[in-house]
Amino acid sequence: MTRIVAISGSLRKGSFNTALLRAAAQVAPEGVHVDVATLHGIPLYDGDLEDREGLPKAVRQLKDLVNGADGVIIATPEYNHSFPGVLKNALDWMSRPPTGDVRVFSGKPVALTGASTGPVGTRMAQAALLPTLRALGTIPWFGRLLFVSNAADCFDESGNLIDEKMKSRLAEFIKDFADFTK
Ligand SMILES: Cc1cc2nc3c(=O)[nH]c(=O)nc-3n(C[C@H](O)[C@H](O)[C@H](O)COP(=O)(O)O)c2cc1C
Repeated sequence: MTRIVAISGSLRKGSFNTALLRAAAQVAPEGVHVDVATLHGIPLYDGDLEDREGLPKAVRQLKDLVNGADGVIIATPEYNHSFPGVLKNALDWMSRPPTGDVRVFSGKPVALTGASTGPVGTRMAQAALLPTLRALGTIPWFGRLLFVSNAADCFDESGNLIDEKMKSRLAEFIKDFADFTK
């Protein structure tokens, strides 16, 4: 079984990015399990808090998920031509290796995708994430591009992916990334 953790960079209940990852879990091929994770419960990074209490529970849980996964997919919204602060905050927390802890992203295959309501489809947000992926020591996967533009037209009101073309592109994306992680 190939295990993939799919992290959404949006906290919104009706998030198109979270919906995209849920759809990814549905179209994943046999033998590939996609665990959708969100960033809820992660406080703002504060070195004093870290000194006092160590890693917050939500960070610890996400780090454990990533550590046990064969690969990670990040679906990022685009905010002002970059990726959201909540996502950077989570990645910053997850990069913290208190003594004896592992660098969970080191050598980990990571794929990027994203959905936005505009016509650009998170191109700039995904590009803005690249220096962070390098800093974390990931193995970025560039095998396919998946930009979901005009997201409101791609999903129904319950968050189901209804754009069939996008669904088959998503299936190819997951399959090829899962193959890459092997
Ligand atoms: C602060 C803010 C800035 C945004 N900036 C952009 C942008 O630069 N480009 C874009 O395509 N969409 C932008 N949007 C629209 C988002 O793509 C849209 O809100 C999207 O639905 C967010 O992802 P989510 O549905 O997963 O929460 C922005 C939204 C917010 C809240």
